[in-house]
Amino acid sequence: MRTALITGASRGIGRGIALSLAQQGYGLTVTSRSESGIATLAGQLRDAGSPMTVHRAADMADRQALPGLVALHGETFGSMNALIVNAGVGTAGPVDSFRTDRLDKTVEVNFTAAFVLIQAALPLLRSAADADPALGAKVIAMSSITGAYAESGLAVYGATKAALLSLMETVNLEEGARGVTASAIAPGYVETDMSAWVTDTVPADTMIRVSDVVAVVNMLLGLSRNTSITRIVMSRSGASGYHA
Ligand SMILES: NC(=O)c1ccc[n+]([C@@H]2O[C@H](COP(=O)([O-])OP(=O)(O)OC[C@H]3O[C@@H](n4cnc5c(N)ncnc54)[C@H](OP(=O)(O)O)[C@@H]3O)[C@@H](O)[C@H]2O)c1
Repeated sequence: MRTALITGASRGIGRGIALSLAQQGYGLTVTSRSESGIATLAGQLRDAGSPMTVHRAADMADRQALPGLVALHGETFGSMNALIVNAGVGTAGPVDSFRTDRLDKTVEVNFTAAFVLIQAALPLLRSAADADPALGAKVIAMSSITGAYAESGLAVYGATKAALLSLMETVNLEEGARGVTASAIAPGYVETDMSAWVTDTVPADTMIRVSDVVAVVNMLLGLSRNTSITRIVMSRSGASGYHA
């Protein structure tokens, strides 16, 4: 059985990825903050075809809770074919007045949690890569187009997403030769709760679909271990290509 751990799985992009992997028969560990939300999702994933799904509520800002998520996956499945680092928080505001407590929270959730989870998961990912000479094991991080191209008002969010782009490159350099490859997906606006604040200027029906991001994840998961794609930027059709 192929297995994956997915953060931010209760809603939006993470939920789309989880449902797709369940339909493909993955064993899953899913997490988000709300116990009731993630428990409900776990049942839906089993109904969708996952032979085994375990769940645990955790706040990505709680660094101490993160190794336990990986341990839960390891105790349940023994190895990990894919780590999907998807949970994120969106924050906007100009540099001159951005509150530093929001800075800390955004860095913790969007970057530090990703680093801590990857570090904790590497033994399980290496084990899966050893057992799968064709595909190896994958880390996929949900970055943003604002990490690739700076955007006014999104300094902190964009910087955390740029950090993920760099981290995926480094994971590839350090782990790729032994079969653990890493990719960042960097979309413009995707139609989810997170982008609801901008629908007066970017209509929801023009945004990237969750299903498009899921299709990219599935493509990455199907690549052989011989190929690394460190980043994929996804633009809204008709937008500049350098703007969310
Ligand atoms: N939507 C976009 O336009 C867009 C564009 C580019 C990149 N992204 C990135 O894609 C990823 C998913 O975004 P989305 O649009 O699917 O967002 P979303 O619909 O707001 O869902 C966010 C998910 O992350 C979880 N989450 C949020 N804060 C958390 C925390 N502190 N600890 C644990 N879980 C937390 C949420 O669950 P709970 O609330 O239950 O905890 C939820 O499952 C994010 O990293 C985001 O930055 C989104």
